[in-house]
Amino acid sequence: MKIVKHIANLGYGSRKQVQWMFREGRITDADGEVLYADDPVDHDNIRVDGEPLDPAPGLAILLHKPVGYTCSTKDTGRIVYDLFPQRFRERSPVLSTVGRLDRETSGLLLLTDDGGLLHRIISPKANLPKVYDATFAEDLRGDEAALFASGTMMLESEQTALAPAQLHVIDPRHAQLTLTEGRYHQVRRMFAAVGNHVQALHRSRVGGLTLDGLPEGQWRILDEGDLRRLFGAGE
Ligand code: URA
Repeated sequence: MKIVKHIANLGYGSRKQVQWMFREGRITDADGEVLYADDPVDHDNIRVDGEPLDPAPGLAILLHKPVGYTCSTKDTGRIVYDLFPQRFRERSPVLSTVGRLDRETSGLLLLTDDGGLLHRIISPKANLPKVYDATFAEDLRGDEAALFASGTMMLESEQTALAPAQLHVIDPRHAQLTLTEGRYHQVRRMFAAVGNHVQALHRSRVGGLTLDGLPEGQWRILDEGDLRRLFGAGE
């Protein structure tokens, strides 16, 4: 791919704008030598205003999503893309969230521009466990774990029963729920169905990946080892 198109696809501007960036000498190699738009040069050897280029397509990101951010590109309030450089929204292929967390849910959220990877993560075949830490408005009744594990629980307006889910009760107001599917508002709806209300919800694990101390609002790029760990726990 031509270097102008490559840089434009990373969200740095339109092709025209990127051509101007070349003319203005803002695009250099790693030694600071000004590059021209027709120079043959590798991604890793390009600098924009002295900074390395954003990662090439095939990007996977782990974000510690704070409460108050929506997994959407259109919402008028805060959106998870506000936590990244503005140009991440302009990338082609598009950087998408892998599933969604509610606005009021915090925790581990994955994003990728790799459609194949996205489908591998959300595919029922992968059967990746997702672990949620929940705080409740009411004390648990005591029968929730058996119902959730039964594989017969139905949620309102759904046609199929929920896959078995594991509930680990920490105390009457706190529990950890492990799901292998991701239906709309699933955790909140499961507890609403047993007469409770989830006051706080945090996702602490997807597959073999955890936040591992990553502060809220921060993100990091996943490497090969992370991806092996992601699938390792579910396969
Ligand atoms: N289940 C929910 O209810 N909300 C989330 O954000 C994720 C799972």
